[in-house]
Amino acid sequence: MILALPKGRILKALTPVLEATGLLSQPSPIDEKTRALRFPSTESQLDIVRVRSFDVATFVAFGGADIGICGSDVLTEFDYPEIYAPLDLEIGQCRISVARHPRAGLRDEAPSSKIRIATKYPVTARAHFASRGINAEIVHLHGAMELAPSLKMAHAIVDLVDTGTTLKANGLEETDVIAHVSSRLIVNRIAMKTRPQAVSDLIDRFRKGLRSQK
Ligand code: ADP
Ligand code: PRP
Ligand code: MG
Repeated sequence: MILALPKGRILKALTPVLEATGLLSQPSPIDEKTRALRFPSTESQLDIVRVRSFDVATFVAFGGADIGICGSDVLTEFDYPEIYAPLDLEIGQCRISVARHPRAGLRDEAPSSKIRIATKYPVTARAHFASRGINAEIVHLHGAMELAPSLKMAHAIVDLVDTGTTLKANGLEETDVIAHVSSRLIVNRIAMKTRPQAVSDLIDRFRKGLRSQK
């Protein structure tokens, strides 16, 4: 079996839980300096791969990994029917929100049919505005979307917010919370059917690891 871990901030927050699962061996996926992408675990039947956070759900949905950990923001954006998310790890907590310049009302700047949104989350953003009857045009960026309003590329952004520091530093204001976000343990549905015991043992190890941290 393959477990997909996300590099970056989730991996950092997850480290104590991973250590508590007893699955880590050397070389460790926690060491982000190593260039290796695939690591052994303490279980002979399990290898760990380390991939981009945004790609974890894709690795699991396409069966490259049987189990993985990723933010609920990523799950919502891809909405893969092949994925089951049985456990909220309660780390990586933030929210996905709409933000814009404080004084620039969306409707002052553009007729609602022409609202342009800069985001790394095109599906989530489009669905949010569509639910309000607005057909948003999406500018798909992978970072620094906070620049888009002042550079006149977009009227607003949809991005992750935690402390609000990034928005403030870029002169933006949060106007709507679209969803609360936290990291989830995810499982490929076919793996659940074909290897139910191995999958539920792994879920259990994470559940116990999580509990030992509380
Ligand atoms: P990326 O390189 O894709 O930005 P990160 O490690 O920064 O990767 O983010 C990975 C995940 O961590 C996100 O998908 C989200 O679930 C969560 N996350 C991102 N930013 C924050 C934040 N500021 N506070 C809390 N959780 C966050
Ligand atoms: C994330 C996210 C926001 C910021 C929100 O960026 O994309 O920009 O955190 O957190 P805050 O409300 O506490 O400021 P990150 O730090 O991951 O940088 P990145 O652009 O490299 O992803
Ligand atoms: Mg980030």
